[in-house]
Amino acid sequence: MNIQPNDILEKGFFDTEIDPHLDLFAEIARLKKEKNAILLAHYYQEPDIQDVADYIGDSLGLAQQASKTDADIIVFAGVHFMAETAKILNPGKKVLLPDLKAGCSLADSAPAPLFKAFKDKHPDHIVISYINCTADIKALSDIICTSSNAEKIIESVPKDQPIIFAPDKNLGAYLNKKSGRNMLLWNGACMVHEIFSLEKITKLKIRHPKAKLISHPECEEPILRVSDYIGSTTQLLKYTEVSDATEFIVATETGILHQMQQNSPHKTFIPAPPTNSCACNDCPHMKLNTLEKLYLCMEYEVPEITMDENLRLAAKKPMDRMMEISRAAGLIG
Ligand code: 13P
Ligand code: SF4
Repeated sequence: MNIQPNDILEKGFFDTEIDPHLDLFAEIARLKKEKNAILLAHYYQEPDIQDVADYIGDSLGLAQQASKTDADIIVFAGVHFMAETAKILNPGKKVLLPDLKAGCSLADSAPAPLFKAFKDKHPDHIVISYINCTADIKALSDIICTSSNAEKIIESVPKDQPIIFAPDKNLGAYLNKKSGRNMLLWNGACMVHEIFSLEKITKLKIRHPKAKLISHPECEEPILRVSDYIGSTTQLLKYTEVSDATEFIVATETGILHQMQQNSPHKTFIPAPPTNSCACNDCPHMKLNTLEKLYLCMEYEVPEITMDENLRLAAKKPMDRMMEISRAAGLIG
């Protein structure tokens, strides 16, 4: 089929009729085998996508899987910066994203020209950037981190070295508090993790006195302050498995509840309530991916992530640094 770039640019994916009789789970399994493709999915993907993935993980786990796969095609069920990260690590492989419009409010909160001007004002600072940023921001950074390794990454920098932390101000403030540093914070945030209501969570805790409140460090400080445990998506999942508690109020994107429930079927997981009655704790970007779009992207091998080679090399340097520090700290194998 002759697919024109405009077919994809407008909608974000190649929109064509799917035979309604097709078993998409079986088709995706067939395409993975036929094309030697690996399907990586973030925990925030819808349950059907998680169930067909070869690997489900948080940002650090996914980056590590992307760096060590010998598949010919990486299908990334996540958002754009994650697929872009896979491409940075794998220039020779085809990297596919089911919907090119699956962006990230946090990555969008740091436009590269503005960030460059900010960085230029502080020439004595090094830049540590959270992986939730564009390749352009990565290229302006010295080290990348994820929520799983951020503390170790910061520890690896001499105490007297000034640091700019971007783009998430909530994660940055949390890390400042934990490390006793005074990193200069870029004013960005994730729309999903900023939406939780302290008032509603407090009421929920009264109704469920034995429940543990577990939160992602992208949440705002008042939520983190009353949390029983704070961690990356994988750390939250592990905590629910090893904890003696049987009830959890989960302050992060709701997609993770699927794995929590699967891994601990006898425990109860309650999504932390957002400030109004919207489903704002579902990431609208992550949830743009569907099983249908996943099938189409594997069948037609579009949309594909492409990148200028100079940009890729510049963005890879701080990623390599992150991998080295994570390996030395025993966080990845
Ligand atoms: P982690 O996967 O590192 O926990 O990050 C959460 C997130 O917001 C991903 O978009
Ligand atoms: Fe970005 Fe937040 Fe969605 Fe993660 S949950 S992809 S940080 S908007």
